[in-house]
Amino acid sequence: MDWGLQNRLSQIIKPQNNRALMLAVDHGYFLGPTEKLENPKKVIAPLLKYCDSLMLTRGVQRTSVPTSTNVPMVLRVSGGSSIIGEDLSQEEITVSIKDAIRLNASALAMSIFVGSKYEHQTIVNLGKLVNEAEEYGIPVLAVTAVGKELGKDARYLSLACRIAAEQGAHIVKTYYCDNFEKVVQSCPVPIIVAGGKKIYERDALQLTYDAIKGGAVGVDMGRNIWQSENPVAMIRSVRYIVHGNATVDQAFKLYQTLRNEKPQQNKPQQNKPQQNKPQQNKPQQNKPLENKK
Ligand code: 5RP
Repeated sequence: MDWGLQNRLSQIIKPQNNRALMLAVDHGYFLGPTEKLENPKKVIAPLLKYCDSLMLTRGVQRTSVPTSTNVPMVLRVSGGSSIIGEDLSQEEITVSIKDAIRLNASALAMSIFVGSKYEHQTIVNLGKLVNEAEEYGIPVLAVTAVGKELGKDARYLSLACRIAAEQGAHIVKTYYCDNFEKVVQSCPVPIIVAGGKKIYERDALQLTYDAIKGGAVGVDMGRNIWQSENPVAMIRSVRYIVHGNATVDQAFKLYQTLRNEKPQQNKPQQNKPQQNKPQQNKPQQNKPLENKK
């Protein structure tokens, strides 16, 4: 693998523990103003420092992410359909490799729709995208999208993941399912798990834990973070599992603690007299090891 490609991959899947926490905010590309993601800039701002990478479209990147960030961008480059259109699987590549490079993308993401009407088109497009992206050392993440009529079971997801990997995808995103190990074992590239529809916070933490235990490198989670009653508490708790090896109980306990914390406000500086005390090295308190960045 070329140095550039390997380097970009290691920005997304952290080499120290082979884990990844990707925050997904690309839903608007076919869903429009998704509930609680109506204003991506406001959603992204408090969460950015807790994710390893951000999955998004170029429109959201240009309008809603500060250019000063050093969080790697996983750029969605496929689209062309909408939730009210005829067929969600009718996607094409909509972003040029030149624009992806201008946006400093660390990886490109596109969906394949195995078993759907436009299966052929999306799989061929994946192959073509890999051809182009490899020329510039940019990894490709294939999203195994599931049509309404298809079940998210291990048989179907193994098929979709394996096809994506055979076309040259460097990372495959799929769903967690029963016998998930089977999906991981038959896919020769790293698998990252999507969060899916909003569920109870503890259940989403359980999903994170099970996915990693089953062999996923991590999660690419969207709705279960920003649709949570406390998105910052939730991403920090997911992070605690992904990078802190926490159990579900530990992570949920952290969620419950953080959920009740008041958001920090920028209080105006008070005119207190300076005390100029020498700094002491206080002993560390027994706080949970959350592995904040
Ligand atoms: C949308 C996507 C999302 O990025 C993916 O589904 C992850 O988000 P969520 O956790 O909300 O499912 O690819 O097509």
